[in-house]
Amino acid sequence: MHHWRIDDARQTLVLAATGERLPQVVYWGPALPAQENLATLHATHAIDVTGGMLDANPDLSLCPEATRSFPGQPGLIVRDGEGTPLLPKFCYDSESNGNDLRLIYRDAANGLTLTFIFALDPDTHIITAQTVLDADAPVHLHWLAAPVLPAPQHSGEMIDFSGRWCGEFQTNRTAWSAGMRYRENRTGRTGHEHFPGLIIPCTGATNTQGEAYGFHYGWSGGHRMIAEELQDGRRQIQWGHAARMETEAATQFKTAPLYITYSPSGLNGCATAFQRHLRDRIITWPKPDAPRPVHYNCWEAIYFDHNVPALKDIATRAADLGAERFVLDDGWFGQRDDDTRSLSDWTVDPRKYPDGLHPLIDHVHGLGMTFGIWFEPEMINPDSDIHRAHPDWALGGEDQTLGRQQKALNMALPAVRDFLYDRMSAILREHPIDYIKWDHNRVLPMPDAAQTRGSYALIDRLRADFPQVEIESCASGGGRVDFGILQRTQRVWLSDSNDALERLRIQHNAALFLPLSVTGSHVGPRYCHTSGRMHDITFRAWVAAQRHMGFEMDPRELTDKEATVLRHVTAWWKANRDWMQRADILRLDSADPAVIAEQQLAADGARFVVFAGKADTSAQIAPRPLRLTALDPNAQYLISLANQQDIHHLSRGTPALKSGPVTLTGRYLMANGITLPWSFPDRMWVLEGKKL
Ligand code: GLA
Repeated sequence: MHHWRIDDARQTLVLAATGERLPQVVYWGPALPAQENLATLHATHAIDVTGGMLDANPDLSLCPEATRSFPGQPGLIVRDGEGTPLLPKFCYDSESNGNDLRLIYRDAANGLTLTFIFALDPDTHIITAQTVLDADAPVHLHWLAAPVLPAPQHSGEMIDFSGRWCGEFQTNRTAWSAGMRYRENRTGRTGHEHFPGLIIPCTGATNTQGEAYGFHYGWSGGHRMIAEELQDGRRQIQWGHAARMETEAATQFKTAPLYITYSPSGLNGCATAFQRHLRDRIITWPKPDAPRPVHYNCWEAIYFDHNVPALKDIATRAADLGAERFVLDDGWFGQRDDDTRSLSDWTVDPRKYPDGLHPLIDHVHGLGMTFGIWFEPEMINPDSDIHRAHPDWALGGEDQTLGRQQKALNMALPAVRDFLYDRMSAILREHPIDYIKWDHNRVLPMPDAAQTRGSYALIDRLRADFPQVEIESCASGGGRVDFGILQRTQRVWLSDSNDALERLRIQHNAALFLPLSVTGSHVGPRYCHTSGRMHDITFRAWVAAQRHMGFEMDPRELTDKEATVLRHVTAWWKANRDWMQRADILRLDSADPAVIAEQQLAADGARFVVFAGKADTSAQIAPRPLRLTALDPNAQYLISLANQQDIHHLSRGTPALKSGPVTLTGRYLMANGITLPWSFPDRMWVLEGKKL
């Protein structure tokens, strides 16, 4: 018998193997006492056998094997070099337990080796798990799962994520039942449609209480998720690259890291584990201690209509509002007057910039802002000089369906990566640029893991040579958001929707995985270009202030009142960002479905801010109390409305909060909640709290 346990203060994961067979997770949940007998635990974990069953139940192992009569989806599907299916059967080989736990299993008959790697970060509570397949001779891979985990039995449903352009991070709740929920993203890109995350709440769990299990697969090329309930009631969770994305036979394949966590504190326990792990372990920050700068992005102000005097005017106004970084979006290169041409012609357009980019950059620097620039490196328009010179660099067939009039480049080709490196590094060397907005606006013509590895290699090379340059991952908004790309980038453009109402919801759900520091959020135009809605400036500004704040409207459209509000909220954000960028974002359980609320709690617990967005009119006439979370029940908190000036005259009552700060205990704030003033829908209350 082999047993292993992985522990931190809040969770234990126990692996056990029957004889020489592959190990299975026999326990994953709250931390077990040190004296727990793992052999007994393993023996007790076995389920009974009755009529109509095999004489013993095949293990739900880290890689379930078809050859051991496992009745569900196997963890590995592989063929030899000639294409004949292999039926692997692994036996114990060796193990090591240093910084991580490595369990090595061997199938001598087929010349295959499986290595399972587990690492637990005791501070973030994230377990990173990965499977590596080595083969003595090249094999064709169809499917390789990261270490396979059991799902809890005390759970009625699972939560996963879908979405679309301008509508990212929609949650799906699916009831468990016999059979499987199978999600496969074959678009070749993380995609709006299939964010690779899963939360399994145990029965009764909410944002703030109960137990939950979280999963995230850190890969940008499209994944497969299987959540399967077997006939015997057991449940398994598998994650891996989408099937058949490996087009060549090879002697080694690896899954991406799978990030998992058990939470005893509701969905928020998963959320804060992912937020902290991403921010503190995965991202590499060029300037770790520098505050996140307020952005200005010119896309929705001018689109392709670049001209230097107008851009200078816009930059001056953006700086006056409080912007600290100016990002020049699409339209500065080739002959890019619309989205039909020039992608891959990465040289400055002399018609729009007769003296190059320097006059604009100098102007921006003169205003105290830094300068960022847009690229869409993986893409090429058929109408471009590079496509005319190298039609064979494009990925996919001649007759493929274009996306936004463009094709993807074949990033597996070293010549393509060298070309992109040369063009991009020339721009970066010639100009003082500290930021790239890296876009990826179409799906691939077919899934191909080599493409994603090629993209990663190009980013890695650029980052190695330009370590001070930060990168934002954009793909028509939130189409490439995952911990794989965020290992190489520092921000995501969460959505092309600058509609504050849409953003409120998208941000709320994305916070299950993403901290403030990486989540870009911009104040859009008064008349929203992607939804046709109009929102008051206070709502637009506060929604942006919930995350990494920026502006994207044409500042020339702002009335004096709008500019004043924007300056004020931006100043508030700057005054608070130091602690907010290290805070946990905790989703609140709102008693009113019209209210989407969160509490950002400082790392030391000494202060918090609550953003309560009213996304709809309420069914009842007066607001319901909003329960806070994770406070010290015995401490007193000084609570005040940060946006007192937004109280509307139709709010006629006299709740104490309307006229000044109040002092209440954590117990009261968590048990009863705090009642906010009445407001219109599409408004945000901002409540500040300080521990006394
Ligand atoms: C994508 C991005 C936008 C903008 C445009 C430019 O749609 O998501 O933010 O950069 O490309 O073409």
